[in-house]
Amino acid sequence: MPMRAVIVREFGPIENARVEEISPSSPGPDEVLIHGAAAEVNFPDILVMEGSYQIKPPLPFSPGKEVAGTVAKVGAAVQDLKPGDRVAAQVEFGAYSEAVIAPGDSCYRIPDSMPFADAAAIGLSYQTAHFALLERAGFREGNSVLVNGAAGGVGLAAIQLVKALNGTALAGVINEQQAEIARANGADHIIDLTADPIRDLLRQQVFDVTNNHGVDIVVDPVGGSILEASLRALAWCGRLVVIGFAAGEIPAIRSNYLLVKNIAVLGLQWSDYRDRTPGLVRAAQEHLYELYRNGGLRPHIDRVSPLEEFASVLEDVRAGKVSGKAILAITGAR
Ligand SMILES: NC(=O)c1ccc[n+]([C@@H]2O[C@H](COP(=O)([O-])OP(=O)(O)OC[C@H]3O[C@@H](n4cnc5c(N)ncnc54)[C@H](OP(=O)(O)O)[C@@H]3O)[C@@H](O)[C@H]2O)c1
Repeated sequence: MPMRAVIVREFGPIENARVEEISPSSPGPDEVLIHGAAAEVNFPDILVMEGSYQIKPPLPFSPGKEVAGTVAKVGAAVQDLKPGDRVAAQVEFGAYSEAVIAPGDSCYRIPDSMPFADAAAIGLSYQTAHFALLERAGFREGNSVLVNGAAGGVGLAAIQLVKALNGTALAGVINEQQAEIARANGADHIIDLTADPIRDLLRQQVFDVTNNHGVDIVVDPVGGSILEASLRALAWCGRLVVIGFAAGEIPAIRSNYLLVKNIAVLGLQWSDYRDRTPGLVRAAQEHLYELYRNGGLRPHIDRVSPLEEFASVLEDVRAGKVSGKAILAITGAR
């Protein structure tokens, strides 16, 4: 039976891609064919379609890295999945499709109560936040955590996780709209990252709401001057996790800061965990689903759009007009 997919026939402007009818391929021995129901739209999808991403899929291809749907067929070597299972999967490309081929070991059975749109949204951002807090920073119940870029994908996931794990969440934001989103997702305190001079005022704001303790952990996807200011807001023996540089500037870190308060700066490249320790990634995903079942995690979905609207959704993602997750409904996304 023909199925629909967004197809890129040559690298270039995203508008050149089309929704076409395709014949699904058969899964290889270690693979699974998924009837895609919902796909998350991510900024890197644009780079892949334009041909400027580090990995170029063979033409023609479907873009998209996160999908949720129903298993249609499994390869001979896949033991733990069967047709009819509801799953989410992370793929290098191919998610904007009714027929997605995914490695069996990158598929996760999702809770019965989880709509496909939520399942497509609980992927990379949540995994990154989970590894930052639990694997890198050694989060423990009761810890206070400053999350910079708190209204972004990784930021909101981190705020929700801190609250689900019984910590105190401080949301670093740059305007009132972001503050509202962070509060709605559970933030206990708002830290204004536009305060000037930020070097002193970030610490002062943090100390004001932590009884002069400082924060135990900083999750920083922002970089620039915010990172250095955040180091000064850490408590004794605090940990800062470097996630990314949304501000566009990679700061140098002065090592005397580390010595004076026994603090640590840790890097995170989540994809290395995916490649080197898939068991840890699977365990983290199971943990995320458990927290979802208990009501602690709810992805902030900005919109669910029909597959045919992929180009305008991608343009809105590029223009920063999407707050939270944008999902393409492929078939039957609830
Ligand atoms: N290390 C890893 O394994 C890993 C994994 C995933 C993502 N990342 C990286 O992490 C970063 C964030 O990803 P994301 O998906 O959360 O992106 P996102 O959804 O775009 O969020 C970034 C947030 O930071 C804010 N921001 C931008 N410039 C800022 C500044 N100068 N000061 C304060 N806040 C600022 C943004 O606000 P506006 O929306 O107003 O710009 C937005 O709220 C990216 O650089 C991404 O590449 C790394």
